Amino acid sequence: MKNDTFIIEGLGGKKTLNGEVSINGAKNAVLKAMAATVLFSDTVKLENVPDTEDVKKMNSILEKLGAKISHLDHTVTIDSTKLNTSDIDVDLAQSMRASVVLTGPLLSRFGKVVFPVPGGCVIGTRPIDLFIEAYKKMGAEVVQDNDAYTITAKGGKLKGAEIFFNIQTVGGTETLMMAGVLAEGKTVLKNCAMEPEIVSVAEYLNSCGAQIKGAGTSTIEIIGGGLLQSKGNSYITMPDRIETGSFLILGALCANNLKITKCNPAHIESTIHLLKEAGVDMTIGKDFIEIKNNGVVLNSSFKSVNVRTHEYPGFPTDLQAPMVTFLSQTTGESIVLETIYEGRFKFTDNLKKLGADITIMNPREILIHGNAELKSVTGESLESYDLRAGFATVIAALLAKGTSVVNNVYYIDRGYENLEGRLSALGAKIVRKSVC
Ligand code: EPZ
Repeated sequence: MKNDTFIIEGLGGKKTLNGEVSINGAKNAVLKAMAATVLFSDTVKLENVPDTEDVKKMNSILEKLGAKISHLDHTVTIDSTKLNTSDIDVDLAQSMRASVVLTGPLLSRFGKVVFPVPGGCVIGTRPIDLFIEAYKKMGAEVVQDNDAYTITAKGGKLKGAEIFFNIQTVGGTETLMMAGVLAEGKTVLKNCAMEPEIVSVAEYLNSCGAQIKGAGTSTIEIIGGGLLQSKGNSYITMPDRIETGSFLILGALCANNLKITKCNPAHIESTIHLLKEAGVDMTIGKDFIEIKNNGVVLNSSFKSVNVRTHEYPGFPTDLQAPMVTFLSQTTGESIVLETIYEGRFKFTDNLKKLGADITIMNPREILIHGNAELKSVTGESLESYDLRAGFATVIAALLAKGTSVVNNVYYIDRGYENLEGRLSALGAKIVRKSVC
């Protein structure tokens, strides 16, 4: 599983994919909702859950804490009522950055949490200083020892506080929002991230008794109270906006007709705006996006655009790699500035191997010369450096002439369910080679 590869027969610039693809639930929303089950006095049912490796990992982390979980056909049921420890498993936590969101609910419920110092990852260093600072403001003591943090709430209970995030942090906003739910008094979070996944979790928690105001704006207020109760009210996972944007870019480059269903186009407004500016013709519905009669051969009619990644509602860093792949096919030059992470251009090695003309100006900025004719090189394989870059590399391999091998498909599996099956259904020739 870890070393699986995709063998992809490229379309060589022909837009022969056709059909419909439906979007799965957002892993970056459901992982947080799963962590939030720690705040409940009853079992929580989560629906429209994507069957991805990160979801399985979060299940395992919760099970190690003592939760009872069933995962069947896109529905996960979590009973976190009888957790027997608030020490997060070191190996599992270190293999998934999102595990840090569990610290908020655990600390808030048990007054103590132990978790490993997260390592750097392929897209950058990703520190947690903002979480630590915020917990201290809420009256917690933080001890860092032997690569682990032990955080203890004085008197066993977190206290409401006013917290200003120096950087808009998605995980920090979600984690501290959840910490505030069982804290004493009022917590005010300022300069919050405004991503739709935060709103989705806050709305669910409110429907189960939490008092959270302002999610989706830069200031969130939480009045602490008792444990939440779902009373059988399920969390329905919102559509994955990054998967939506990735399929849209794939459609623009490789499909004549593609209908993307069960999505929320309002969540990728910035991406749609840029692609329209570049000349991609699409019809937008309330829950679908359709590309029609896009031509059968990739031509140079798309225009270059400059891109700057930004917190929501700006252009998402998680769509930067697919967008760079798109820009390798437009007329003229584009500049892409990555403002969120310092190490997210490594995947351009793949595009360059296939023949794209990209200049790295500095670790955060690249210049792309468009109209590249991509071609696979015998004996050279491509790497999935992270899950988003993995999808972008699959798009590049599909664009190219010849057969490409994409390694480390495990990264793609972390965030996308059955990508090869869904692409095959559109007419792509892609097979998984399992390496045990
Ligand atoms: C979430 O990560 C997503 N992950 C990421 O998606 C996404 O790229 C990111 O938000 C930005 O949109 C999940 O939701 C599981 P941040 P998160 O805290 O919350 C710095 C994917 O591919 N920072 O908003 O970890 C941080 O280093 C993943 O699905 C600090 O400096 O991101 C980064 O530069 C990859 N100190 C910036 O803030 C802190 O204490 C934004 O990170 C916290 C963050």
